Amino acid sequence: MKAVILAGGRGTRLFPITVAVNKHLLPVYNKPMIYYPLSILMLMGLRDIIIVLNGEDLPAFKKLLGNGEHLGIRLKYVVQEAPLGLAHALKSTASLLEGQSVCLVLGDNIFFGHGLPALLKKARREVEEGGGAAIFVYQVHDPERYGVAEFDEKGRVLRLEEKPRRPSSNWAVVGLYFYDSQVWDFLRLLKPSPRGEYEITGINQIYLEKGLLKAYRLGRGFTWFDAGTPESFLEASEFVAVYEKRSGKMLACPEEIALANGWISSEEILSRCNMFGDGLYSQYLKRLIEEHTR
Ligand code: G1P
Repeated sequence: MKAVILAGGRGTRLFPITVAVNKHLLPVYNKPMIYYPLSILMLMGLRDIIIVLNGEDLPAFKKLLGNGEHLGIRLKYVVQEAPLGLAHALKSTASLLEGQSVCLVLGDNIFFGHGLPALLKKARREVEEGGGAAIFVYQVHDPERYGVAEFDEKGRVLRLEEKPRRPSSNWAVVGLYFYDSQVWDFLRLLKPSPRGEYEITGINQIYLEKGLLKAYRLGRGFTWFDAGTPESFLEASEFVAVYEKRSGKMLACPEEIALANGWISSEEILSRCNMFGDGLYSQYLKRLIEEHTR
């Protein structure tokens, strides 16, 4: 399975911060935001990744991540022609992915939790082997900001709504989705929503109507942030800072994941350290190498 990270959009809710800098390159505590969704994909073992972005941001993303070789992954970039919604952005990768199943992650979503990679791998396998789509839901206090899922008494999804004024539940649909190869046909069927966007919720709705949607609940052991507003940005940064200071471990360090997956060697990490100088990130990588070669 291949993966897509959506990193376009104008980030208007963060203006003026995002007038000149793309949201996904801004720091969440000590690393660029894009590292977090990228790490989630790498933790699942996905190595072929397409980043959808605005044309003007291409040089900056390439400077940061290049072709991904240093992380043992294969990165490609697709420029989104117009900001017409998440489903439209996914559709822009059709020329590279049509006919294949796909994992889609939103570039401003941050996930953390014990057992998360195993759960995601399971969902991935089910879609690869059995078809259909998988979404994940998480309880929040402000569901009106998100796609919302309503469940029946047996725990099956009854309804999906995008940013409802009166949410029918507090289960938000998080920005991580698995789709089988039918998604490319469904993307063609989709009509724009009243706000003029091709909504990813519209795609999930099609899978739901066909009885092909599975929703996984992310319970209390998980943390999810959508860092789209100044408040959620700060909260996500604080969360990462507290976790990292307390545990001495980094959250979403792509080099660490690549090393653990056996995709890159200690020598390759060392050359990254030389590039990064002697900051805290470099020091962390050096410690990793010592532990790895011990
Ligand atoms: C998007 C989706 C929404 C989802 C959210 C998760 O909203 O449309 O369904 O719940 O991402 O982050 P956006 O944040 O782009 O407004």
